Parts: sequence; C-alpha cells; structure tokens
Amino acid sequence: MADKLNGQKVLLCVAGGIAAYKALELVRRLREAGAEVQVAMTDGAQQFVTPLSFQALSGHPTRTSLWDSAAEASMGHIELARWADRVLIAPATAGVLAKLAHGLADDLVSTLCLATTAPLTLAPAMNQRMWQHPATQANLATLRSRGAQVIGPEEGLLAEGESGPGRLSEPAAIVAALAGSAAAAPTDAALQGLKIVVSAGPTFEDLDPVRYLGNRSSGKMGFAVADSAARRGANVVLVAGPVHLPTPAGVTRVDVRSAAQMRDAVFAALPADVYVGAAAVADYTPRVPATRKIKKSGESLALDLVRTPDILSEVAAQTQALKLVVGFAAETENLVEYARGKLMAKRLDLIVANRVGVADGGFESDRNAMTALWKDGQREFVAGPKTRLADELIDLIVERLQA
Ligand code: PMT
Repeated sequence: MADKLNGQKVLLCVAGGIAAYKALELVRRLREAGAEVQVAMTDGAQQFVTPLSFQALSGHPTRTSLWDSAAEASMGHIELARWADRVLIAPATAGVLAKLAHGLADDLVSTLCLATTAPLTLAPAMNQRMWQHPATQANLATLRSRGAQVIGPEEGLLAEGESGPGRLSEPAAIVAALAGSAAAAPTDAALQGLKIVVSAGPTFEDLDPVRYLGNRSSGKMGFAVADSAARRGANVVLVAGPVHLPTPAGVTRVDVRSAAQMRDAVFAALPADVYVGAAAVADYTPRVPATRKIKKSGESLALDLVRTPDILSEVAAQTQALKLVVGFAAETENLVEYARGKLMAKRLDLIVANRVGVADGGFESDRNAMTALWKDGQREFVAGPKTRLADELIDLIVERLQA
C-alpha cells in the first residue's frame, strides 16, 4: 500500500506539541515510501525540535516563517502550497485545528493550508481534555465535512502522565493511512451511486421475556465501515443489531434484534452492489422462546437451540448477483487458515479476518488489526483505530470492484 506514496509530494506541517519529535520518524518513513517531503514548522514546533533536524532528514530547507525573504525568493509559500500533492499536519494541535476550521491565516502553516488545493490529512495529538472539548470536536467535524482525512489520535499514556485519547498515531500507521488515501480520488468516484448494505453489531436471541443469548460485538467496526462508505459517496443501508451507537451521517439505519430479523432486513435492503457482513450473528437460537420467564428448577438446564439462517451465505448465493460480498471472520486462533476456509465455503469475494479474545482489538475495542483475503490475494491492515481500518477496507473494496 505504501507504494501509493511513490513520487507523491508531501508537505508535512509540524505544529507545537511534544509529539513533534515523532514527526522526524514520519519524514524518514514517508521518504522510504517514495514520497518527496518538504517540512513547514510553526513557532511552537520549533520549541520542541529544530528545523535543522527536519532539513537533514527531508533533504530540503525547512520552512518556518511567512516573512523569510530568502525562502520566499526561492520558493514562495504560494508556490509551496501549489507544489504539494498532499498536506499532512502531524502533530495537529488543538490550536492548529481551530485556526484551520475558521480559515485563519496568521502564520506559515495556516496560510499554506488555506492556499493549497491539495487534500489535507490531520494527525491530531494533544491533552485528552483538549481533544474531548466540544470546541475541538466541532472544529474537527467542520474539517472532516470539508474532506479532511483524520488519523488518530490513539489512546494511551500522555506526556502529562494522564491516560486517554490524545497520543499521536504511530508514524507507520500514519504513512499506511496516508497511502490508503493517496488513491482516494478515483476511489471516491467509484463509490458514487453505489449501494452498499452493511450489517453490524450482535444479534440477541430471546430465551424468554427477560433473558437472551448475545455476544460482545459493539457494532463499532460495522458502523465505521458504513460511515466511511457514506462519506465517500456510497448509498449505505446499515442493518444494526442492538448497539448504543449514533447513526453515521447520510446512512439509512434499520435496527433489528435477532438473527432472523437481521436476515429479513438485509434481504429487504437488496438489491445492492456490495454487502459487508460485519455483524456477529448468533449461530443458534432457541427452537421456541418461552413466553413466560423460565423458572429455576433442577441443577442444570438444557436449552434446545436450532441453527440461525446464515445471512452471508444466503446473500452470496443470490442469483440476482451483487458485485461484491464481503464477510468478516472472528477467530481466536489459526486466523488466516479458518478465514480462507470461510471465504471458500461461503463463496465470498472477500473476507476480513480479525483476532478476537485479545486486548486492544476485536470485540468492543476502538481498535483492531485485520487481514483481508480474497481468492488469489491477501492484505494486512496495520493495527489501529477501527475508523482508519474501515477507510482502508473501503479502499480495498473499490480495488476489488475494479479488478
Ligand atoms: O462490533 P465490534 O465490537 O466493533 O467488533 C467487530 C467484530 C469483531 C464483531 C467484527 O469485526 C467481526 O469479526 N464480525 C464477524 C463476527 C462473526 O460472527 O464472525 P463468524 O466467523 O462467526 O461469522 C463469519 C461471517 O458470517 C460474518 O461475516 C458474519 O456476519 C456472517 N454470519 C455468521 C453467522 C450467521 N448466522 N449469519 C452470518 O451472516
């Protein structure tokens, strides 16, 4: 995926936060991926790292001021803004996000961002309370609505000794996400007018009026996929099991409870071009749910369960063929082997394997690590936020549609 950056001109803007030191590693990784990199720094960034360090790593003079007559004589800031194929701000501080959201142009970085037409990628890093502040979130929403790609931040220990969201994503993850979106222009065009049905979350199979069989799926992965596809122009129907998540903008949501209801809602949403089965559908349901609360009696209780419909297999077997049927596989071991088995058995075009039962991934977590498999190929997705993985999965779906 990183070869998507080969030959790309990346303008890296570094803002003033302790994570600025990680931007040095970012320059190295971007250049390894084949990108040409120029760096612009805010005054704050220069309190943490010297322009000379970036100059040594990028091979270009580092730009630090709007009013540097020598720099303006060689490549003025407007030319630099035009030069860039992509603009990446890492770390993007709360201050920089606020300036960009409001169109301020009072220093080199904010002016470059206003003067460029290149796609903008933001890798935020800041104190967790600054990140969670409604002002920062509103600024981000504004920037997202204008098409900015946002990578991270990650959760973890912050410089102040607190823990929470606010850490700059790892340079490798930023480069991977940037490489994914370097192919974004044709990708977005390819999604226009396409209908994508996504299933997400668990199903609950009622045993009696008060109890059910369920699982730990939060719906985060499926909702992120629906959100990513909708943001990029697809017409998305999201069939959601019982979860507590807001509906992504522009998505048509159908709430269901059981596997049988999910099947009906998915089929009601067809025909479609693509189906993504990210839901953790129960494999068994009570043969007959009790109409009254099951009373305690005896030392053990046997449940009579029957198989639920396999929604994914049924969709894949549709004669009124979809262009692409994508399954997920949640496995605790032999990830790739089992997933490839499901790819074949369910006659899927693509399957996304993720390891569950581990900390920092799978069910409930905001993060995941995935391996996508298709008939004659495989792609690893570097561990990271489900939102970024969803964007990368949509990239892959577009590639497979065009293959
Ligand atoms: O929701 P999150 O907390 O974000 O967690 C995400 C996730 C781990 C639930 C998700 O990434 C995931 O792996 N979803 C599939 C979980 C699962 O049920 O895997 P499975 O191996 O049991 O099923 C394989 C595929 O068949 C899945 O696409 C599933 O939707 C589908 N299936 C399974 C059973 C069934 N009766 N009908 C189906 O359509």
